[in-house]
Amino acid sequence: MILDRVKPLDAILATAEKKSLHRSLGAFQLMLFGIGCIIGTGIFVLTAAGAQKAGPGLMLAFVIAGLVCIVAALCYAEIAAMIPVAGSAYTYSYATMGEFLAWTVGWALVLEYAIAASAVSVGWSGYFSGTILNEFLGITLPQWLAAGPLALGGEPGGFINLPAMVIALLVTWLLMIGTSESAKVNAVLVAIKVTALTLFIGLTLTSAYFDPDRFNPFLPAGVFGGFGTGVGAVGAAATIFFAYVGFDAVSTAAEETKNPQRNVPIGLVGSLLFCTVFYILVAAGAIGTIGGQPIMGPNGVPFPAGSEELARQCAMAQYSGALVCSDEALAHVLREIGFSGIGNVLGIAAFLALPSVILVLLFAQTRIFFVMSRDGLLPEGLSKVHPKWKTPYVVTAITGVIVAIGAAFFPVGQLADIANAGTLYAFLMVAVAVMLLRKSDPTRQRAFRTPALWLVGPLTIFGCAFLFLNLPFEAMMVLPIWSAIGLLVYFGYGRSRSHLGRGVVEVVDEIGGQDHDFPIDTPESHPDR
Ligand code: ALA
Repeated sequence: MILDRVKPLDAILATAEKKSLHRSLGAFQLMLFGIGCIIGTGIFVLTAAGAQKAGPGLMLAFVIAGLVCIVAALCYAEIAAMIPVAGSAYTYSYATMGEFLAWTVGWALVLEYAIAASAVSVGWSGYFSGTILNEFLGITLPQWLAAGPLALGGEPGGFINLPAMVIALLVTWLLMIGTSESAKVNAVLVAIKVTALTLFIGLTLTSAYFDPDRFNPFLPAGVFGGFGTGVGAVGAAATIFFAYVGFDAVSTAAEETKNPQRNVPIGLVGSLLFCTVFYILVAAGAIGTIGGQPIMGPNGVPFPAGSEELARQCAMAQYSGALVCSDEALAHVLREIGFSGIGNVLGIAAFLALPSVILVLLFAQTRIFFVMSRDGLLPEGLSKVHPKWKTPYVVTAITGVIVAIGAAFFPVGQLADIANAGTLYAFLMVAVAVMLLRKSDPTRQRAFRTPALWLVGPLTIFGCAFLFLNLPFEAMMVLPIWSAIGLLVYFGYGRSRSHLGRGVVEVVDEIGGQDHDFPIDTPESHPDR
């Protein structure tokens, strides 16, 4: 039977108990961690693509995507507090739906984490080239070094996005030599990002340029542009969903959380609510000051974000300065309304803070690969640990090279859409897993119970499926193609080598015989240091 091989939950929980990570994180630290992972390229860069898809309806898009994430987070919270071990959605699926479906989830998570890391690298590159090179050093990077050539729909570009590739490799190297972001560094970076966004909101909403008329028409491309078109408010929501990706990383810290029953859900939902409010205000500030109407094609439908046609339009004088044409949307808005200096400060904030988002995403990816290889589904050589650095350096290096290639050759919008496709699938499966576990194991103690699961669970499933169907067609198709490759790997390699399939159930969760550093790294969690 293909759906057999369900990993016994007790074995997974024994793993958690065997670990000796000190529980030191509170709700506030978790929220900081969540916000650190969440705020990144989505708001700093994709605001432009979102406006091209929905115009001022981008604000509605943030609400829709935020709501889907909040119901998904409520499901995550139940299962993360109940199974507080590494591997996130992959592990939860293994314990509920069996190895095969868990494999598909783990495989889809590659899109969420690795491709998202590529997307954030490209987003960072826009700020690096625009603010650091151009504004401060007066250097204009030639187009062939500043953008990748590839796009699924055929798009103009350069030859290679050199800064994006370099930052991805640099972060990989940091992870390989054992750098983990300390709670303090994370707190500082969160403060930088939140201050930059607060300044942005304050300056734009009070600016003399702010004109409520710019919100009219509010929905130039309608609410629903049609499945696979990627336009309209829900099309924008499917793209801007990227701005919330990363909140699930909070669940990976459940093992280090004091009173996870209470604190994990507060951390997850709290960080999401906080970001949703911020995002809506940022969108209002950007659109209210410089406008955010899409550039329409001849048939009255917005040109696809990142398309060749759009690039041609953006090169025309009449669209110079348009929000939808900018690579560094938020800094651009501030420059346009006379705050060039603060625009540059915001650019520096993005330049400093986005690499930590790459670090967390890359870390999460190596962690998933590590767990899959430890389960025997991927070659065990991947989980080899470096004798000195004590990191899974092989899997980190391979992942980093894949991320760097994605960053070097693809545009940010398409990378984000592809990452969203994988993430939406994983979230949907988590909701299914929570509902199945309530049925199959109703008496097990649940530290946190998703309220009204009968409603929240189906809403999550529906919301994720709906956003998925509103992604651009090319991005949507990547998931089945990627899954088909995954099936070949599973049946060609993993199924016969699976430890569980061979009757071995391990309860170790260690790297190199030592407890592994999580990205949150407080002195208390390492009393031996
Ligand atoms: N949510 C993260 C970002 O927007 C991935 O960069």
